[in-house]
Amino acid sequence: MANGKSHMNKTINIQSAAILVGAGVLGLGLTGCRGDRENEPPRQFFPDLDDQQKWNPQTGSEFFADGRSMRPVVPGTVPFGRTMAVGNEPWAAHWKQERDDLLKADNVFYTGVEGVNEKGEPVYVRTIPASVTVDMALLKRGQERFNIYCSVCHGYQGDAKSRIMEADIGFNPAIVNFHDASFFDQGNVRSRDGWIFHTIRNGKPTEGQPGKFNMPAYGHAVSERDAWAIVAYVRALEASRRGTIEDVPESGRPGLLQKERPASPEAPAPPTPTPGSTPTPAPTTGGVK
Ligand code: HEC
Repeated sequence: MANGKSHMNKTINIQSAAILVGAGVLGLGLTGCRGDRENEPPRQFFPDLDDQQKWNPQTGSEFFADGRSMRPVVPGTVPFGRTMAVGNEPWAAHWKQERDDLLKADNVFYTGVEGVNEKGEPVYVRTIPASVTVDMALLKRGQERFNIYCSVCHGYQGDAKSRIMEADIGFNPAIVNFHDASFFDQGNVRSRDGWIFHTIRNGKPTEGQPGKFNMPAYGHAVSERDAWAIVAYVRALEASRRGTIEDVPESGRPGLLQKERPASPEAPAPPTPTPGSTPTPAPTTGGVK
């Protein structure tokens, strides 16, 4: 009995040793392929597309009459970017935008500046350029970016009531309130959308102190597209405080007027009763007649 058992143990040991050696040899064979220096052609277990016939760029070729491997463009070839866009605008829009961003060809869109005056100073565009579609999506994007990058100083409503102002760390000059009259004064550069765009992207340098800023630049974080979205939102914030009931479509007015009606001082609103309890009558003279 005891003998038979030890014989079986030996067989198992020999078997597992053989498997181990086998696996080791196979492993060595696999690891010794890539990166080794050898004069023999490499072993290829999965040749896939390793060996293709091709011409390397900028090399000679005996095949073509002009001796060059690279072929000149066939006359009449349409550039790739153009083909993409023709009849396929929605699909190509992403790449077109990427190319435009790289080339920055549209000066007004990428700088907010439309030219220079007689003194050689930049002239900022009055309104958001036509290449920007101002719609609800843009305003929403502007709101989101504004809340992230601007609200901490300028306040969520752009009225300079912000965390930074509460902290009172003494901004000098003070943080600008976008509802200030200067933003509506046509003679003031602040009335120009291009100026707000420019300030977002480049900040407000401190006069006479190169490298110092009254307001930091946000060009690293806010793209040109997003900067225009923020400009649109800043203008919407401004409009929100200057609007009249006439700006609201007629159908929306009744509800608004009701909400806005101030409580008249003669008849103060009754105290809101606690749910489930009978409203207590207003205290009179304590029951004494
Ligand atoms: C760190 C605080 C801070 C942040 C964040 C900030 N600003 Fe300002 N901003 C200022 C201060 C301070 C001024 C006043 C600068 C001055 O008067 O020279 C200012 C001025 C401005 C002006 C007026 C420039 C002028 O003098 O005509 C505009 C427009 C403006 N900011 C827009 C923005 C927008 C949009 C954002 C968000 C992208 C933003 N700011 C983010 C602090 C900030």
